[in-house]
This record gives sequence, structure tokens and C-alpha cells, in this order.
Amino acid sequence: MLSIVSVLISYLLGSISFSFLAGKWLKGIDIRKHGSGNAGATNTLRVLGKGPAITVLLLDALKGVLAVWIGKWFVPDDLWVIIACGLAAIIGHNWPVYFGFRGGKGIATTIGVMATLVFVPVLIAGLIAILTIALTRYVSLGSLLLTGLLPIIIILMNKPLPLLWASLLLAVFAFVRHRSNIVKLVKGQENKLGAKKL
Ligand code: G3P
Repeated sequence: MLSIVSVLISYLLGSISFSFLAGKWLKGIDIRKHGSGNAGATNTLRVLGKGPAITVLLLDALKGVLAVWIGKWFVPDDLWVIIACGLAAIIGHNWPVYFGFRGGKGIATTIGVMATLVFVPVLIAGLIAILTIALTRYVSLGSLLLTGLLPIIIILMNKPLPLLWASLLLAVFAFVRHRSNIVKLVKGQENKLGAKKL
């Protein structure tokens, strides 16, 4: 019972779409109708600017951190339930119950979840992703690299199996949610960070 409650709370927490709220509060707009149409920090940067984007990034990541803590608080000894709470927050972010199930791509929340569970692999993958974004200006490429590298680093570092499964599932989530970005990357039409035109 406690497991179900903790997963449900995590989903409801993850469903709070900070980029959507920022768009509404700051400009009275639905961010999903602007820029790339994604309810996430990258699109917040395009549509609302740096300050709101950094705030959204941190709050979206914090949802992931809190979800893992919720799992640890309710069911401290069950890593599977703790992971399920993290996944629930990411599912909430991607398919939010409060906003017609149209949310973001889950990367910031994934970082929050995985960094709380396995900090060093996320740090390594994160640094590679940041370097990639700095060199190419493609945030989506960095996001895909980050989630794609995590399972590999987790295997290399011999982390517990549930964490490997979580990272594999999250990589699948990320690639599925970035389908349109992947097509644009292949065609050379992906939005570059800082570019005005979409
Ligand atoms: O995390 C989302 C990012 O990888 C891509 O965002 O708005 O360019 O589709 P966007």
C-alpha cells in the first residue's frame, strides 16, 4: 500500500509542469504552442529567456530528487519502489495529469532522479553532454547522449541491477520523446541553442 501511495504522489509531483506555469505566469501563453512546442527548460529558454529557463531546469530536476526521497521515506528498503517513484515523476513530467497529458521530454527530471540514485555516472554523462552541447549547440543531442551513456557507465561501474534497468528504461523514454528531434538532427534542421529561428 505504501509503495502505491509513494508512486502516486511522485506522479502527481512530476505532473507539475513548471515551464507551462512559467509561460502562463510570465506571458499568459501556453508554452506548448510556442517554439518547439515542448514543455521543458530548453523551450523555456527560447520562449521566455535565461532566468525562467534556469529556474524551470532546477525545479524540474528537483521534482526527480524529491520523488526519490519520497520513495526512500515511504519504503526505505526497497530499491525497486524507490526507482518506481523516480520513474513516476518522469512519467508525470512527460504526461502530466493536470495539463492534458501533454508535457515535456523528461531530461531535467531524469537528471534529478538518476543523480540522486547514482551521482557519479550522471556527473560523467552530464559533463560529456554539456561539452557536446557547447560544441554543437544541439541540446537534444546532449540529452540523447546523456541518457544513452548512462546505462553504459552504470555497467562499467558495476552498479546494482535495478539501477541499470532504470537507466535503460529512461534511455528508451528519452529516445521516444525525442523522435522529432532525431529526425531533425539527421536532416540537419534541428534548432541550435541561441538561434532565433526555429
Ligand atoms: O530536453 C529537451 C531537449 O533535449 C530538446 O528540447 O525544445 O529543443 O525539443 P526541444
